Amino acid sequence: MTSTYDDAVALDRADPLAPFRAEFLMGDDPVAYLDGNSLGRPPLRTLERVEQTLRHEWGGRLIRSWEEGWLDLPEQVGDRLAAACLGAAPGQTVIAESTSVNIFKLLHAGCDLRPGRDEIVATDSDFPTDRYLVESVAGSRGMTVRWLRPNIVEGVTESSLREVLSERTALVLLSHVDYRSGAMLDVRMLTALVHEVGALAAWDLCHSAGVVPLALDADAVDLAVGCTYKYLNAGPGAPAFLYVAAQHLGSVRQPITGWWSSADRFAMGPTYEADPSIRAMLSGTAYVPGIVAVDASVSLVAEAGIEAIRTKAVALTDLCVELVDAWLVPHGFEVASPRDAARRGGHVTIQGDRSREVSAAMYAAKVVPDFRNPDMIRLGLSPLTTSYAELWRALDVTRGIVEAL
Ligand SMILES: Cc1ncc(COP(=O)(O)O)c(C=O)c1O
Repeated sequence: MTSTYDDAVALDRADPLAPFRAEFLMGDDPVAYLDGNSLGRPPLRTLERVEQTLRHEWGGRLIRSWEEGWLDLPEQVGDRLAAACLGAAPGQTVIAESTSVNIFKLLHAGCDLRPGRDEIVATDSDFPTDRYLVESVAGSRGMTVRWLRPNIVEGVTESSLREVLSERTALVLLSHVDYRSGAMLDVRMLTALVHEVGALAAWDLCHSAGVVPLALDADAVDLAVGCTYKYLNAGPGAPAFLYVAAQHLGSVRQPITGWWSSADRFAMGPTYEADPSIRAMLSGTAYVPGIVAVDASVSLVAEAGIEAIRTKAVALTDLCVELVDAWLVPHGFEVASPRDAARRGGHVTIQGDRSREVSAAMYAAKVVPDFRNPDMIRLGLSPLTTSYAELWRALDVTRGIVEAL
């Protein structure tokens, strides 16, 4: 039997994370917000912390604030994020720039760590920035790209990765959770395969950070990047994170060798010497309001607990698949995400000929999903802010739309 609205309300009553909704500025506009996997809602404490930083630290202390704490924020907040949801020990993560810029740095850094190898492996269905950067970095270094061409719901498999790996592979870049289908890859297994041929594994964690527990150290990941404005709720364009495993620190180099990555920033010396720590991955002056926004938001994830967040993500996506099957599949839609929750991240994607029209009608009805070309509607479910009742209402509105087509 299909879950009723009362069933959804009962799930909310029993939800240990339900009180976290009060931690966010919810507004009263959308009937349902299902796009937290593109832009998370604003946490109240993040707004307060940014205001405090601007008003009191910038306004009150002015330049003295750098010495009074700002200089160390990239690695301090990186460590907090790593502890809250990356499964990484301190000293390996920084907050800086955007995911795109950090992918550029990691691609060069990874290839430099494997000199003499001339191939990069990447996925032809990955997020555009990943593909474009792989192409441009490979081109500038005279390297070749070996493209994986997975079915996006199945994701990259062991056998498909084995086929392209060789002693020529320098680096493999993979997205942990697919931005369209939500398919989640096995980090440990695929990283071990990459290591079998002596290459390095770099992971894009944009769609998993803050919603899926990660174990970067235990899974022997070499390099990773991810954004903070989706499930980490740090705000539009908030700075990204970048992880380099401890074993590569000291030897890792990246191409944007600005003064913040040098061994002694204030020596202002004649030649560049890279910092031996994770700071080697920085470039220029940190964007302080962005980093404190990440810090405040990460504290919420730490309080809720990433395991509890994952448990709710599984329950939300299961309910979503159940309602889509009951209400939308009979009207020509398909679930374009893995049906097995163990292989799925925090969003569910539906696909159909009339997706564009349906997505526009959902917007008009104040149900906010995400549309992805050519025919996909992503339903992003953020465990700290999405309630079961909100999800039920969203799909009920959508049912009305498809029935009227
Ligand atoms: C999987 C993935 N990688 C990379 C990016 C690019 O991030 P940015 O535009 O912040 O550089 C995104 C953005 O949504 C993404 O979803």
